[in-house]
Amino acid sequence: MERKDFLKTCGFACLAGIVPGVLLEGCGSAKMIAGTMDQTGLLVPLSAFAQAKGKEKKYIVVEHASLKYPICVYRFNGNEYSALLMRCTHQGAELHVVGDRLECPAHGSQFTNKGTVKNGPADTNLRTFPVNIQNDQLHILLK
Ligand code: FES
Repeated sequence: MERKDFLKTCGFACLAGIVPGVLLEGCGSAKMIAGTMDQTGLLVPLSAFAQAKGKEKKYIVVEHASLKYPICVYRFNGNEYSALLMRCTHQGAELHVVGDRLECPAHGSQFTNKGTVKNGPADTNLRTFPVNIQNDQLHILLK
């Protein structure tokens, strides 16, 4: 085998090992919860925050066919949540959740878990929605 062929083979082998890991990690962080729509908004079971060993997730991402962008819901405690439209206020790209903040893949804007601009170029906070708890459901008021 010539050196050039050897390098090509090694390069593809490395990519084959790296790409699935990156893709799986991306899927894991982007797991969506399908909400149920009622007359005023989206309903999500509180159990969507449940994790193993009685722990709670810091956030969930909720989608519905009628929404152009998903909504990220951060849980601060059992009574305090923030629901943020995952649409960048700069030019409308869909945001990514990175721990306690949302980042824009287009030009790098960052927003806090309450929707406040942390870094531009965006200069407007994210659209937020009121959240309340009805029985065992989180109700995200869209209207
Ligand atoms: S569209 Fe998000 S920073 Fe430009």
